[in-house]
Amino acid sequence: MDLEVTQQHLLRELAARYGVAPASARVVFAPYRICPLGAHIDHQLGTVTAMAIDRGVLLAYAASTAREVRLSSLEFAGEMRFELDRPGAPQPGDWGNYVRGAVQALTRKGYTLSRGLVGVITGPWSEGGLSSSAAVGVVCLLALEHGNALRVAAEENILLDQAIENDYLGLKNGILDQSGILLSRRDHLTLVDCATNQHELVPLTQPVGAWSILLAFSGLKQALTGTDYNRRVAECAAAARILLDAAGRSEAKALLGCVRESEYAEHKRKLPHPLDLRAAHFFSEVERVRQGVMAWSKGDLPLFGRLMTESGESSIRNYQCGSPPLVDLYELLVRCPGVYGARFSGAGFRGCCVALVNEAAAQQIAEAITPAYARRQPALAAQASVEICHSENGARFLAGPLGQSIKDEG
Ligand code: GLA
Repeated sequence: MDLEVTQQHLLRELAARYGVAPASARVVFAPYRICPLGAHIDHQLGTVTAMAIDRGVLLAYAASTAREVRLSSLEFAGEMRFELDRPGAPQPGDWGNYVRGAVQALTRKGYTLSRGLVGVITGPWSEGGLSSSAAVGVVCLLALEHGNALRVAAEENILLDQAIENDYLGLKNGILDQSGILLSRRDHLTLVDCATNQHELVPLTQPVGAWSILLAFSGLKQALTGTDYNRRVAECAAAARILLDAAGRSEAKALLGCVRESEYAEHKRKLPHPLDLRAAHFFSEVERVRQGVMAWSKGDLPLFGRLMTESGESSIRNYQCGSPPLVDLYELLVRCPGVYGARFSGAGFRGCCVALVNEAAAQQIAEAITPAYARRQPALAAQASVEICHSENGARFLAGPLGQSIKDEG
């Protein structure tokens, strides 16, 4: 994705569709994110890792004097149009839900929106695994805030973007996606403590060979609200409740992150099936994040990758969140020479697998995966693809005060 070319294209479309001159427009970019380690533990207040990639959502827009939002997309037909005071209820499968949700999240938080916006949005690969939905939420929040001269810190935008999904759409997810999108820095691992909302950017301090992020798309598309995502969250809570009661701490919140490791070790045999598996995933993933951060900071990509692959295995066996096409991709990737490690990129129900690879082998890996996956999943082969990406900085404005980061603006 060439940001400059995409930006110019969007500005031309904004002029053609809404008569906004490029000089009066701004463009905001929110990258997609991957989660190498820390899968499915953000909603239980675990510590997770994320990284932004060099693909994402761009929105070219201008604040309007009307109290109305009018947005159209390069990928989807039709126009999203509504009054600021009446965002309305979410519509199943509609990309505009994130725009309406952004208005609702800001208003509920007490921000006054007096100016709407007109804009054109674009983003490739909305099929899942990269948090394209959270990225749409972020660009909409940033555009509305800028148009209304609101100064909102990145940390608060993380919670506002989460509110779009938690409160407006009913997905009980954590803050992994939003944090990766808003806080990441190129070639750093974004470490997020979901209990305190504190984050750290961990650099690759030792020299390592060139590496890339390979994305293998399954061709399977479905919204997370229609999956077992919320059921798994509830199972984690049920496991936490049993462990905390057994430990004599019934007053503590029913989240696995509130259970001490010593309490888990002492009482884990009291967990019925499959709650024992969900807790096993949580506590083993917490440990993988711990080891992974050390491996990353030493530039030990082979060890970091091995932990990613173990995380993938635990997601399949313990968290049981994969779907057969995603499991196929995972199995194919981890056997390829040049792959340090692989796992589902996001929740694992649809979308893509992510692999950390030696850059020199990336093309060969892509060429090996494509026919092998087509043999396993012939019905999905036509929509499947492989992309080679790199790590990137977090969300920012491209046109307007060039180079200014969201954090500087907040
Ligand atoms: C989705 C959710 C995140 C996180 C991941 C799994 O992307 O939105 O909050 O739970 O799945 O790690």
